[in-house]
Amino acid sequence: MELLYNNTPIKKLWYNRLMEEENVDLFEKVVNLTKRRGFIYPSSEIYGGFSGVYDYGPIGVLLANNIKNHWWKNMVQKRPDIVGLDSGIFMSPKVWEASGHVSGFSDPLMENKKNGNRVRADHILEEIGVVADEKMSIEEINELLQKNSVALKKTGFNIDEYSEAKYFNLLVKSNLGDFTEQNDNPTYLRGETCQGIYLNYKNVLDTTSQKIPYGIAQIGKAFRNEISARQFIFRTREFEQMEMQYFVRPEEEMVEYEALKEFRWKSLLSLGIKPENLQWHKHENLVFYAREAYDIEFKYPFGFKELEGIHARGNYDLTQHSTYSGQKLEYFDEEKKEHFLPHIIESSIGVGRLFLAILCQSYTEEQVGDDMRIVLRIPKHIAPIQIAILPLSKKDELSIPASSLFEELSDNFMCQYDETQSIGKRYRRQDEIGTPYCITYDFDSINDNMVTVRERDTMEQERVSISELVVYLQNKFKS
Ligand code: GAP
Repeated sequence: MELLYNNTPIKKLWYNRLMEEENVDLFEKVVNLTKRRGFIYPSSEIYGGFSGVYDYGPIGVLLANNIKNHWWKNMVQKRPDIVGLDSGIFMSPKVWEASGHVSGFSDPLMENKKNGNRVRADHILEEIGVVADEKMSIEEINELLQKNSVALKKTGFNIDEYSEAKYFNLLVKSNLGDFTEQNDNPTYLRGETCQGIYLNYKNVLDTTSQKIPYGIAQIGKAFRNEISARQFIFRTREFEQMEMQYFVRPEEEMVEYEALKEFRWKSLLSLGIKPENLQWHKHENLVFYAREAYDIEFKYPFGFKELEGIHARGNYDLTQHSTYSGQKLEYFDEEKKEHFLPHIIESSIGVGRLFLAILCQSYTEEQVGDDMRIVLRIPKHIAPIQIAILPLSKKDELSIPASSLFEELSDNFMCQYDETQSIGKRYRRQDEIGTPYCITYDFDSINDNMVTVRERDTMEQERVSISELVVYLQNKFKS
């Protein structure tokens, strides 16, 4: 039987996503849902929170792991030319000098004269459509602010209430290994994971059978003293990156770059990101060493914003590390009997940004009778909980066999057992965390050894024999 609402089939309503103008509302709803259902918690909440840091709760950690596993499978498992790495968060302080982070990894900061609130001058200008790029001197940025002060005032930002912009370095300092009062030579928490890849480029060559072109992939934490951590997990001070650096012959850099761009676009689609939510953004003002730079942007509720960066970096990184370390980092091509410094193309994406993209894209509200049903239509292959097992009542005659079912199915699937509240409320809870299949064990199950399987998106129910359940569900997930 087809379920109808206002004579419209429910199936047709599922795409009743919130409209563009309601996107702020959508963002708020997504943020609320993540807290309510155990995806994300603010850090140190009982102490009033800790800005720019978030904790992934029981459901969130499952989704984040599935996103990372998908990336790893695409990037490492299915690519004979790419190997994995897990380098240390701490590195020699010289790494950050060589990379240019100590001198140049800065954002323009302005401070409110009364309350000390900090804002990024480039973000403030961005709001009125003025670009202040990374190459600008602080004098040029202050000039831009003055020139646009009237337009800024119209948006409610009065530059007279703020200090002049000054560059603020984003590296997070630590006192690791420093036992003096002053910390003149600090060790930094890594600001990006790829530096650990550059440092191990030679080690990997020497200890594996990789030959150029080859890549190294890594997933790990990065830390940045972001001036205005904002938009929930979009911009945080502690975050996870998934980065891959591909080492190529100089003359092949741009061909490989195009191939990487296409590969990454397809990988995002295979994760389940919808193509209409993605767009390319070309960087117009490149840093001097870059050959080309594109971002893949996702349509967040607050606009198209950077999800992933794909950059052709020339030989800058290896040149810098070779100069600062005094080590030769050239590659020897045995066939051509030729020495050269490889060029690098990079793909870099934040786990949190992808996580947020999946949530925003999946959040759906639909009217079912008098009720509003919230469903997270997370692509089934990355759903945090794959199967919920719901005995119709808490009575032993149902809960004992349902628990055995949980034990059996959890060998193959990520399952959740839930016997609290009415079956309707439990279905809604599972819909909100995006569980593709709910299995109900009822009084008939005792005699006929069958259970009801309910599908998340259609809410259709089917009676399935317990002995065939594993294969039935495996086929469902395959399709
Ligand atoms: N190695 C190149 C690099 O780190 P980036 O553009 O600074 O480049 C790459 O960062 C990706 O890391 C971004 O596209 C974004 O997905 C993520 N990212 C960067 N800063 C972030 C932050 N403060 N919070 C969350 N994710 C961030």
